Amino acid sequence: MSEYKMQLTQEQRDILEGKQGEMLAKVMKTLVLYGETFGAEKMVPVTGKMGHLVTSFGFGVMKPVFELMDQLIESGTVSKQSFTVDPKPMDKNVPSNLIEDLVFKKFMYSAQKSYDVQLKKMGIEGSDAYTCTCYLDEVGNTPKKGDILSWAESSAVVYANSVLGARCNRNSGIIDLFGSILGYVPYFGLLTDEGRKATWIVDIQTTKKPEAQLLGSAIGMKVMEDVPYVKGLDKWIGNELNDDAKAYLKNFGAATASNGAVGLYHIEHLTPEAVEQGEDLICENAKVYVIDDAELERIKASYPVIWKDPAAQPKLCFIGCPHLTYAELTAWTEKVVAKLAENGRKKVSVPTVFTAAPAVVEAFNKTEMAEALKSAGVVLSYICPLMYMNNPLCGKKPVITNSNKLRTYTTSRYYTDDEILDIITKEAK
Ligand code: F3S
Repeated sequence: MSEYKMQLTQEQRDILEGKQGEMLAKVMKTLVLYGETFGAEKMVPVTGKMGHLVTSFGFGVMKPVFELMDQLIESGTVSKQSFTVDPKPMDKNVPSNLIEDLVFKKFMYSAQKSYDVQLKKMGIEGSDAYTCTCYLDEVGNTPKKGDILSWAESSAVVYANSVLGARCNRNSGIIDLFGSILGYVPYFGLLTDEGRKATWIVDIQTTKKPEAQLLGSAIGMKVMEDVPYVKGLDKWIGNELNDDAKAYLKNFGAATASNGAVGLYHIEHLTPEAVEQGEDLICENAKVYVIDDAELERIKASYPVIWKDPAAQPKLCFIGCPHLTYAELTAWTEKVVAKLAENGRKKVSVPTVFTAAPAVVEAFNKTEMAEALKSAGVVLSYICPLMYMNNPLCGKKPVITNSNKLRTYTTSRYYTDDEILDIITKEAK
């Protein structure tokens, strides 16, 4: 009798018994045990055209990961599908001092070059495949509705599930890679129809368009890993998935996924499953969360300021976590240029970095806007701001951001889009 409860096909049993190699058997065993932990009864094929890995950084201390990659590569157990990967941690254009450079290159990300080589051998889509917004048209890893994925990056998983209607669990790093190697993932949670039903109704009753990052933060903290069905948001962002709505939902979703652990949300009259199934998606006895202006104010006021000196002048500003879309990048450039002119200034008063996917950066750099952004003193980069800040040196810097995800994981301080724009374009105190 099998030691596993899961119902496996003959091919899957053969893999498990090592008929396609010892390493693939181990990968299979890991995914079967992982699935059984969550009650999965079968494995289903990965159907998305590309994978996406969360582990993009050659963090020197991650030796077990590098050894594992070596063993997989040496045995020929590489990814069945090409994949994109989260952003790189370093870019020489991003402001840093000598000591920070030393810490980044010699200590923290000392294995970046060798890890990049491993990713290449494992099947990365290309040298520009490093971004968390892999699903954007410019990048090309855009799943179709109903596709089964093996991803882990939380902001990408929630976007793929909610906005694109693909199906993916909130996996961990390496599990995402194993699914891409095996071509199967365990069937549970957000892969199932039942797991995609909403157990919360969120009723938006604000008097103005809610800040995406604040709204996502509020919902994430309330529903945690549950699925919310959001009513009343289409009044503010429309009922068409255009560039603006998609950018809004990208930022909103990243906040739900990092301030809570949301892997899927439905927006009434807007996201694909909500449009198709409407309130049939809502479970009986779903709980209700009403969000009004006061609730969003309460959420914002609850964020702790953990700078050493809360009155410090900001030393760095990050905009683009998750990475900016092309439309966002253009809109931010226009806003900064216009506001600087209004304030009679030429350059931003706080060193500012906009981050976007390499393909988006490349497209933007072909336009006249690129020169305008550069003249305004803003750096455009492909890095992950979180990876940049994730060390004791940067942790001490007073950094500001409009990203709730970055605020959650670092010492950076959150401001709304309008507040950030004001801060970086006015005279420094
Ligand atoms: Fe992307 Fe890094 Fe933010 S992966 S979502 S830019 S933390």
